[in-house]
Amino acid sequence: MNSVIDLLMNHRSIRKFKPEPLAPEQKKAILGAAQMASTSSNVQAYSIISVTDPLLKKELAEFAGNQAYVEQCGLFLVFCADLSRLRNVTENCGEIFHQNTESFLVASLDAALAAQNAAIAAESLGLGICYIGGIRNVPHKVSEALRLPELVYPVFGMCIGVPDQEPSLRPRLPMQAVVHENAYDTGAVLEGIQEYDETTRRYYRERTGGQTDLSWSRSMADKYRLPVRPHIKPFVESKGFKLD
Ligand SMILES: Cc1cc2nc3c(=O)[nH]c(=O)nc-3n(C[C@H](O)[C@H](O)[C@H](O)COP(=O)(O)O)c2cc1C
Repeated sequence: MNSVIDLLMNHRSIRKFKPEPLAPEQKKAILGAAQMASTSSNVQAYSIISVTDPLLKKELAEFAGNQAYVEQCGLFLVFCADLSRLRNVTENCGEIFHQNTESFLVASLDAALAAQNAAIAAESLGLGICYIGGIRNVPHKVSEALRLPELVYPVFGMCIGVPDQEPSLRPRLPMQAVVHENAYDTGAVLEGIQEYDETTRRYYRERTGGQTDLSWSRSMADKYRLPVRPHIKPFVESKGFKLD
């Protein structure tokens, strides 16, 4: 349809990178694009830590559950929700800074929107990316390593670099299971899931030469049958965020 949509439709996460750093102008373009993302009421409630120190990258790779590509990628960015800057300016204006679950959400969303702009900018330069939520396995260690102040927490990292693999596209849910016209249609969702379970099983069979035959429903059930990262609430509260 057009080159932007073609780029978006061709996204796949990259988990193997050539050991090449990004050119300074590539990095600048990616970070500039991230900053131009939409942001709630222009609050810009996020910060990005560009991790260039090889030892720090190695440490973060371990923190993320030994994800080697964190160390190997040309650039590793950590996107943080940041209310500290807003508290400073509010207090400098002589006002009390009020925060709650809404501002926590705003800051986390701002970080995600900036990150997705960075991802698209990087892919448009022929680079590959992979989000790294694994850093939330031990968020306090990541926070210490990056010296994040109060009211700043790491939402996720992102590997960016020159791809050294060409993985196949990962199929998504059928549109009917995600997009509704005027009102939510639960029947369409259930039908879409059935279809997607088959698509996913085929995808895994093809990718693993028949070794894995896993439906989407099964893999989601495996993921959610126990609480996922229950330490996150106490962690963000320890960083000063109020979830009222
Ligand atoms: C917030 C977020 C966190 C993620 N964390 C990880 C991660 O820690 N490690 C990883 O290999 N992939 C991670 N991913 C990548 C997803 O697994 C991937 O986007 C998804 O399976 C769809 O595949 P695709 O990106 O190749 O289309 C993450 C993606 C997002 C959006």
